[in-house]
Amino acid sequence: MSEEKIAEKEAPREAPPASPHGSVEPAWKVSARSARSVFFAALASLAATIAAAALTGHVQSLWPLFVVGAIATLILFVLAFARSLVALARMARADEPVGYAAPLQTIGVGLMAAFGLFLALMGTFGMARGRQLRKRGKVLLPPLVPGGDWARLTMEGEIPEDVRAAVAARWRENGRTEHASVAAFARLTLDLMALGAPPELVESANRDARDEIRHTDLCFSLAKTIDGRDEGPGPFPEAQSARTLLSNRTLALAELAVDSLIDGALHEGLSARILSHLVRRCEVPAVRSLLHELATDEARHSVHGWDAVAWCLEEGGAPVAHALRGAVAGLPEHPGTDLPPAARDGAWEAFGIHSVELEEEQHRNALASLTARVETMIRREPVFR
Ligand SMILES: [Fe+2]
Ligand SMILES: [Fe+2]
Repeated sequence: MSEEKIAEKEAPREAPPASPHGSVEPAWKVSARSARSVFFAALASLAATIAAAALTGHVQSLWPLFVVGAIATLILFVLAFARSLVALARMARADEPVGYAAPLQTIGVGLMAAFGLFLALMGTFGMARGRQLRKRGKVLLPPLVPGGDWARLTMEGEIPEDVRAAVAARWRENGRTEHASVAAFARLTLDLMALGAPPELVESANRDARDEIRHTDLCFSLAKTIDGRDEGPGPFPEAQSARTLLSNRTLALAELAVDSLIDGALHEGLSARILSHLVRRCEVPAVRSLLHELATDEARHSVHGWDAVAWCLEEGGAPVAHALRGAVAGLPEHPGTDLPPAARDGAWEAFGIHSVELEEEQHRNALASLTARVETMIRREPVFR
């Protein structure tokens, strides 16, 4: 071997990069951080691909978007896996003690983010209207049966005859979701009590359940006013089979945080935003005052959803924060709509039923403010400072 080559081999290696605090950072830490970033990018790409897949169902020409998203997601996951292997190899060769905490922490962050993303996908499956009961992601609703037990209010209102039956049917559909929300808040009370939540949160959940009873009455009474039919929610045994929290406390806190973020903060907040716009567009006085009442209540429910998220974060710390970040990455860009085709262009806004455009616009706004708020909440936690 020539002298130059020996000198080259013996020359000191390039120093590892300095950390933002000025100290030299071990190579394994740089690799672990890079693996984590790529993993989060893969999660975001997966969420975008799922949104593209949902859109492809409506607009078939968008299928190339889905294919590109799927390929990008696959590449990013492979890259994240490869970088994790590099990080592990560097940990094994590190001169300084690595300890078990660091690699476990890296794996834990990824797992909690994946858990949050999974919960977000399950929680945004189908339509989005307030707190709902779900079983394996499917929203549970009561059946409609003859009888006017849940239409106890007297109202007045005229709707043109050609759309009367369809608009009344839509208000009954809204009534079914309000009725199911009563059970969803009962579920929330059980969850909060199981985790030892403060009395203010339990009190809010019970007050909100009473609001939903009133909303159910309002919706079914309005439907009866419109078409004169006595129909309401029937026995709802499925309410007892809705999902329950996991037994591990940290995972249960993450589950409740993500549920409250999606159903409480996002969906209740989105309902409040849509309803407050509809108040100005509605032309039937009785419906307008109903919309105003619903908008006020749903906005309060959304605030209570944020309160639950904040408590879970405070109680669960970093794992809950990572689950929330994963959940935000998994939120769809478009709301799952179940609007009847005749209402989609806004023709029924005069009767208190929104358009696809209003739903899309408000979903965009709600999502942007939610993303920023979650990040602010997480950064405020001492563990992330
Ligand atoms: Fe409601
Ligand atoms: Fe609500």
